[in-house]
Amino acid sequence: MLTAITRHVSPAIDRCELTHLERNPINLGRARLQHRAYEHALRDLGVKVYSLPEEPNLPDSVFVEDTAVVLDECAVITRPGAESRLPEVESIAQALAPHRQLFSILAPGTLDGGDVLKVGRMIYVGLSGRSNQAAIIQMRAFLNPFGYTIKSIRVSGCLHLKSAVTQVSIDTLLVNPAWVEAGNFPGLNIIEIDPSESYAANALLVGENVLYQPVYPRSLERLEALGIHPVLVDESELGKAEGALTCCALLFNN
Ligand code: GLY
Repeated sequence: MLTAITRHVSPAIDRCELTHLERNPINLGRARLQHRAYEHALRDLGVKVYSLPEEPNLPDSVFVEDTAVVLDECAVITRPGAESRLPEVESIAQALAPHRQLFSILAPGTLDGGDVLKVGRMIYVGLSGRSNQAAIIQMRAFLNPFGYTIKSIRVSGCLHLKSAVTQVSIDTLLVNPAWVEAGNFPGLNIIEIDPSESYAANALLVGENVLYQPVYPRSLERLEALGIHPVLVDESELGKAEGALTCCALLFNN
């Protein structure tokens, strides 16, 4: 069964980290309603959702994806690249401990889960402003013994690797070629987003279903033309905090 760990939106969300976006007021009530709808959409797809309580002093803590990489065999607790986000990992490690053997990224390594894209036994790790080579070396030491290959990928112009590329079926990626080179992913089908929708490459694959945001209608048309018909969920208020669909859940088999 698929399980998701999520976390309620912090009342401090308007103090979130911002790297590529201007600060705009975030409507907390709207963000919470949208996030609840996202959790409902996961439940409707048969996912068991554990929703952790809000963290009043951790603005970005709704973006649980950045705190761990959960695989079938183990989980890696990250060391987020933004100092304000370091305290987020402790409660996630506690939540995952009953389910998985845990490894932890240690200094000088920094890693955000948003930089980690797993496709089969291949794990792509973005070298971004948040994740570094020291963390990639640690990831290899933890995960090569389980048969995973770790490949580092340069990303530019966006926060995380998964701002630029996500998986939309077993062998297909949705890519913003302005932020990551599609040539990094040989053997996989590539769907390019519409160039007018820079943030449209973030979809959440849930089993055989895809969650996607209705705010990217042109890229949605491209998905549908190729037979991918996503469930639509709007997390646009958290988009102002540089978050997207994958950021808001840790999904794993249980
Ligand atoms: N605001 C999301 C992040 O910067 O991590």
